[in-house]
Amino acid sequence: MKENTVSIGLLGCGNVGQGVVKGILLHSNKILRKLGITLVVSKALVQDISKERAIEGVILTQKPQDILDDPEIEVVVEVMGGEHPTYSYIKEALDKGKHVVTANKLLLALHGAELQEIAQRKGICLLYEGSVLGGIPILRTIQYGLAGDQVKKICGILNGTTNYILTQMVESEKGYEEALQEAQEAGYAESDPTMDVTGLDAACKLVILCRECFDLDIPLEEVEIKGIQGLTPEEVAEQKRQGRVPKLVAEASIIDQSSSGLEKSREGIIAKVGVQWLSREAILSHVSGVDNGLSLETQLVGDLFWKGPGAGGLATGGAVLSDIVEIAKKVVVERSIGNAAR
Ligand SMILES: NC(=O)c1ccc[n+]([C@@H]2O[C@H](COP(=O)([O-])OP(=O)(O)OC[C@H]3O[C@@H](n4cnc5c(N)ncnc54)[C@H](OP(=O)(O)O)[C@@H]3O)[C@@H](O)[C@H]2O)c1
Repeated sequence: MKENTVSIGLLGCGNVGQGVVKGILLHSNKILRKLGITLVVSKALVQDISKERAIEGVILTQKPQDILDDPEIEVVVEVMGGEHPTYSYIKEALDKGKHVVTANKLLLALHGAELQEIAQRKGICLLYEGSVLGGIPILRTIQYGLAGDQVKKICGILNGTTNYILTQMVESEKGYEEALQEAQEAGYAESDPTMDVTGLDAACKLVILCRECFDLDIPLEEVEIKGIQGLTPEEVAEQKRQGRVPKLVAEASIIDQSSSGLEKSREGIIAKVGVQWLSREAILSHVSGVDNGLSLETQLVGDLFWKGPGAGGLATGGAVLSDIVEIAKKVVVERSIGNAAR
């Protein structure tokens, strides 16, 4: 393999996986010009090889070992979803010294700390920009941009499906079931929308944000979670008359603040997901449809806010690609140092 070529194996090639492949095709010239790196997706694990996919040049396989045992593949990109068998595949990839990129918030909320520990021990990367806020580059901003600051409060709309349903309930005065059905028909909600509507998806993302912002692992079961299922059109109409809109808000803050700084402990963090009735003045009330929004209150900078597409194959694929590029830079530098030492 050429010194500047980095071979990637995908575990999964659905919406996000195909978004990654398309992103590489679209931007390969720019990546080569700016970074001198060529990215090649060599193989992808799928369930059904006969399914039509809008990608070319990638070998499809149903055998995970074709990727996990391939010595040329240095970066494994997990975009399969779910906890099992994904957990064992990622663990095996890390154990074999392969860098891993994932967009799987459920897996990260449940096993992120353990997997990160393995990656650190092995001196390799486990990156997951696509797991929170889809296309909005938030994790790297927290890790690098706010490295010298301390986030005190996280407050956001982290799930596009429920935000779409709630927006429809307010703007088109639809009932919950009707708005959910419309979200499913428009492709914004899965056929089983449980993770979204119960608030579990937003809670997983909140756990990841807490890890990044507070450097603390909040177990998923310690997040107070309430979904949007119980909301009635009457309640929405009455609140709307009073100038308020419902939003599924995920928030966490350090309640335990000493004068010398911010003391962080698990007991000192309150993390919860639930419907809040926001006035039109609240910044999150203007995050509509499938968009996500996040505001962070930090010790030095103060208030920050991001809004944008929180999901979608191309947007999330772009976030995954940013992780791949970061790893590829490291791989190529390490390779050239290794070659020079020989
Ligand atoms: N979609 C989004 O907008 C979005 C946004 C942020 C994060 N994510 C996360 O990204 C991940 C992927 O989401 P997605 O929307 O791309 O899912 P998807 O469209 O359902 O794609 C899943 C892919 O994984 C393959 N797969 C699933 N189980 C498998 C198994 N046991 N063995 C082999 N292959 C298997 C499927 O194969 P077949 O194609 O053959 O069925 C498919 O290619 C999830 O963790 C999700 O939470 C998604």
